[in-house]
Amino acid sequence: MPTTSSLPSLQGKTFLVTGGNTGIGYSTCLNLAAQGAKTIMCARSSPKAASAIASIKELHPEADIRALIMDHNCLATIAEAARLFSAQEPKLHGLILNAGVMAVPYETTPDGFEKQMQINYVAHWLLTSHLLPVLFSTARLEGPGSVRVVSVSSDGHQKYSFGVTKILYDASEVEACSDFKRYALSKFANVLHADSLHSQYGPGSESSRQGQGEIWTASLHPGFIDTQLNEKIRDGTSWKFSWVHRVLKMFGVLRPWDEGCVSSLFVAASPEFTAAMSGKYFNEKAGLKEPNPGTKDVEEQIRLEKWTREAMQKGGWI
Ligand SMILES: NC(=O)c1ccc[n+]([C@@H]2O[C@H](COP(=O)([O-])OP(=O)(O)OC[C@H]3O[C@@H](n4cnc5c(N)ncnc54)[C@H](OP(=O)(O)O)[C@@H]3O)[C@@H](O)[C@H]2O)c1
Repeated sequence: MPTTSSLPSLQGKTFLVTGGNTGIGYSTCLNLAAQGAKTIMCARSSPKAASAIASIKELHPEADIRALIMDHNCLATIAEAARLFSAQEPKLHGLILNAGVMAVPYETTPDGFEKQMQINYVAHWLLTSHLLPVLFSTARLEGPGSVRVVSVSSDGHQKYSFGVTKILYDASEVEACSDFKRYALSKFANVLHADSLHSQYGPGSESSRQGQGEIWTASLHPGFIDTQLNEKIRDGTSWKFSWVHRVLKMFGVLRPWDEGCVSSLFVAASPEFTAAMSGKYFNEKAGLKEPNPGTKDVEEQIRLEKWTREAMQKGGWI
């Protein structure tokens, strides 16, 4: 299993991590910065980002890390943050789509999307779309494998978890789902997004053949990790879940916060991640794993891509 200490020097490389102020995103930023990468930590709150950056700088005073503020609940802030990044940074080698919420109650955002779908998927699609020009120019300069996109999904998207087999487009059907099933739908969309990026821009794609730029991508399950994501569920549910949570932690099923970044770092920065691995799904130990078979339905990938692009155009976000 690759470890965080097996990363090469990342001097001269730039990475952007969403949801970087805590949990898995924080440990991803910490390891990237420790290896000398220029690290852009995305967060929705400036004070939270400042405090997370201060704690990384305490460990690595030489870290080249700064914050980029965006709130996935407001798509205009995503487009603005991408514009700011592109105006300031000539290159982007790794885009790590990590921010997320889990099992929050049904709600529609001011932008008109179900909350978990917007925070976990739509905002990431939009960010990627706005960053494609800098991803492409970096890839053209530095060649295949130099640019990667990581989509942090979850095994919650698997059919055996919450019974998801396809994306639901009908708002009343989405509202009728449990909070966890809506989470699973957004994580299913994360896998489809990675697959779509791979088909459009990965090895062997039209984009690569025409010299527009080749981007390697993958989706993954980061593990069952002790972060605020699970804490929020524990604190918001019955004493029974709270008790189960403690037992899982005691027996090591719920892993420590700093173990959740192994696969993200592998896909984003390891020389052992190859062209043949682009478009695949990984487990928490950076091993290949079969995703929900529904995500391999090309029609489903195309449908989601079309739905998202049209919605983003209609809202004026692209
Ligand atoms: N932990 C697990 O067991 C587990 C398992 C499978 C998959 N995952 C996935 O791993 C990823 C990271 O999860 P985690 O466990 O590290 O969770 P976490 O500790 O709760 O961190 C989530 C990050 O996303 C950010 N975020 C939430 N809502 C946002 C918004 N509206 N705009 C911008 N940022 C927002 C959070 O910011 P704030 O601090 O401001 O809330 C935080 O930085 C998620 O995509 C999750 O689905 C986790």
